[in-house]
Amino acid sequence: MSTESLSREADALQARMWNGAYDSSALEGQANLWGDPPVPYAQVAAELFAAADAAVIMDLPCGDGRNLPPLAAGAPILLAGDSSHNAMAIARSVVERAGVQRGVVFRETDVYATGLLDDSIDGIFCWDLLGHLAEPADALTELIRTLRPGGCLIANMWTMNDCQIADDWAKMTEVGHRAYLDHAGFYCKFYDEQELVELLAGAGMQAESIETARWWEPPHANYRPYVHEHECLIFRIRKATQPPNQPA
Ligand SMILES: C[S@@+](CC[C@H](N)C(=O)[O-])C[C@H]1O[C@@H](n2cnc3c(N)ncnc32)[C@H](O)[C@@H]1O
Repeated sequence: MSTESLSREADALQARMWNGAYDSSALEGQANLWGDPPVPYAQVAAELFAAADAAVIMDLPCGDGRNLPPLAAGAPILLAGDSSHNAMAIARSVVERAGVQRGVVFRETDVYATGLLDDSIDGIFCWDLLGHLAEPADALTELIRTLRPGGCLIANMWTMNDCQIADDWAKMTEVGHRAYLDHAGFYCKFYDEQELVELLAGAGMQAESIETARWWEPPHANYRPYVHEHECLIFRIRKATQPPNQPA
């Protein structure tokens, strides 16, 4: 079996582990895993998508839905996708509580094989997933395939200044270059800007912008049960409107 298919198998196993993390038995009585406040950049992304008159946008992975209420303002149709059935069940109730269910379409989705048409989505928000994947370039290739020319993908990668590294509670075990398994066995890889640029270049992509951001998060049930601060690189990729080497 090739290294790439082994990595994919590991990612598929991790996706099943995520589904277990959203199970009510793991949530210890809390309503959701990540807590309700959206990450600050979800609002920024919604404004960017709306300013571009987006018709269909996607939050992949939507997790248990914290970013869906602000993103719903970004376009008339918001696809909410995640590989976790349990996560999406919680996300549905988050969306209903926020009163934004009109236009939100839930769909169990694997980021490596979305089953969506080429060039069909105007904007994609991909938050806190790529650093968990063994083959992030393949996931990005699939996402960009679904993006319409001129559309924008907004994603993030944690940096080595992220709280997870120094955090004793996370009990990170180093498994490779800037790569760790956390206390729950989830794979986490951290990037600096040069490594991110190289990752993208390897997939034939270039970021339109890369910025460093820090933000606070509330306690996460049974996962990181205290207030903590993350740091990541937020990057945008705009899909070319012309195939490379074609005259304008
Ligand atoms: C750290 S959570 C982030 C969720 C959400 N973006 C947020 O900010 O709350 C990572 C999510 O990725 C999902 N996931 C893991 N592997 C996936 C895959 N191959 N395809 C789609 N989603 C996946 C997990 O189920 C989990 O909900």
